[in-house]
Amino acid sequence: MNPKTFKIKSFGCQMNVYDGERMAELLGAQGMSAAAGTDDADLVVFNTCHIREKAAEKAYSDVGRLRREDGSKPLIALAGCVAQAEGAEAKRRSSMIDIVVGPQAYHRLPEMVAEAVRGARPVDTDMPAIAKFDAFPERRRANPSAFLTVQEGCDKFCTYCVVPYTRGAEISRPWNDIVAEAHALVAAGAREIVLLGQNVNAWTHDGRDFADLIRALATIDGLARIRYTTSHPADMTDALIAAHGEVEKLMPYLHLPVQSGSNRVLKAMNRSHSVETYLATIEKMRAARPDIAVSGDFIVGFPGETEADFDATLQIVDAVRYASAYSFKYSARPGTPAASMEDQIPRTVMDDRLQRLQARITENQMSFNRSKIGVDTQVLIERKGRHEGQMIGRSPWLQSVHVETAAQPGEIIDVTLVAAGPNSMTGAARQKAAA
Ligand code: SAH
Ligand code: SF4
Ligand code: F3S
Repeated sequence: MNPKTFKIKSFGCQMNVYDGERMAELLGAQGMSAAAGTDDADLVVFNTCHIREKAAEKAYSDVGRLRREDGSKPLIALAGCVAQAEGAEAKRRSSMIDIVVGPQAYHRLPEMVAEAVRGARPVDTDMPAIAKFDAFPERRRANPSAFLTVQEGCDKFCTYCVVPYTRGAEISRPWNDIVAEAHALVAAGAREIVLLGQNVNAWTHDGRDFADLIRALATIDGLARIRYTTSHPADMTDALIAAHGEVEKLMPYLHLPVQSGSNRVLKAMNRSHSVETYLATIEKMRAARPDIAVSGDFIVGFPGETEADFDATLQIVDAVRYASAYSFKYSARPGTPAASMEDQIPRTVMDDRLQRLQARITENQMSFNRSKIGVDTQVLIERKGRHEGQMIGRSPWLQSVHVETAAQPGEIIDVTLVAAGPNSMTGAARQKAAA
């Protein structure tokens, strides 16, 4: 029987969230509707992430749990980066999986569902650049803050990372497609667009670069804010830095992962930037946009990381004064060069370092948030808060702001930031002056 309802569960990065939204639109265009949960879905899509530990095992156990009491099960599609990494092997490891579809093959999903209904178990992990984007229907719904993937894949091959293998080579979507999608998102209610890519600042098309793209999008009426993530330090051009000083709609926030504060470790990671070049980029950025909130990613316990290396990581946290940062324990990924390096770090050492790093990051985050107390700013309302009358939105610096207001999602309101926590701010709505 043809499936009538579907549930898509996305894990991992924002690009998976974006793909999940687009797959939903694609299935919707086939006449299917979204189910509330996996229990009442005829088709379940697991849109998986392979970046860290036990991702594949977790996916298989999630799949296993879809067996229903009466012995039936929905159609099951394994999508995302685990699907790409496992390929046909996935069908052998779980007889419950009907479809295996990699991140660049989603345009074939409806056809693959039809094949699965006929009893086949199709696998597609091909990587035709761009094809999936052309197949997605036009955007008709958008969150106040909407994701727009402009670039996919990665050619950097950091020695710990699976992304170049699961997402394929770096490709940029064409200029016109992006501009058209941005217009459609704004028409559908988006006030903010977050441009996405594994190396988003490497975007380029027909001689134009990422800074050109941002400047063009900033001319769209009704679009109030532009953000982007994630960028690589090596692709932080002067043009992009200059745009931060000149384009008012470009928000003062930069997610620029450094991974380690030790040049020795950075070299072993094949990160193409050093501590010095990274800090110089941050300095240039602050000259262009003094209030920029800097965020980052860190890995602790990379093979061979010494206590001195780790200490250098703590130092760079203080030197940059991160407004926020994500930190992870190194996870050996099958097939990556770092997985076979000598001197893998014991788990207990990693646990200890992660704790110390996170404490240092929290201190920095707290002092950044405190520095904004008393500041008059604007908040883009995104959703209801936990209490009656409370709404949650984002400051320009991407802080989560709790505010009592009658304003609805999508509205941008004047707020004074009045209190700071480590992960959010409290704001007081300011009365608009009578017109
Ligand atoms: N393209 C982005 C990051 C993509 S992955 C960049 O280069 O910055 C997101 C984050 O996951 C990385 O920044 C890194 O901190 C973390 N990560 C990637 N592979 C990892 C691994 N094998 N173990 C632990 N963390 C990892
Ligand atoms: Fe992975 Fe490095 Fe590419 Fe980021 S730049 S996606 S960490 S290989
Ligand atoms: Fe995960 Fe793939 Fe994104 S591995 S982080 S879902 S690119």
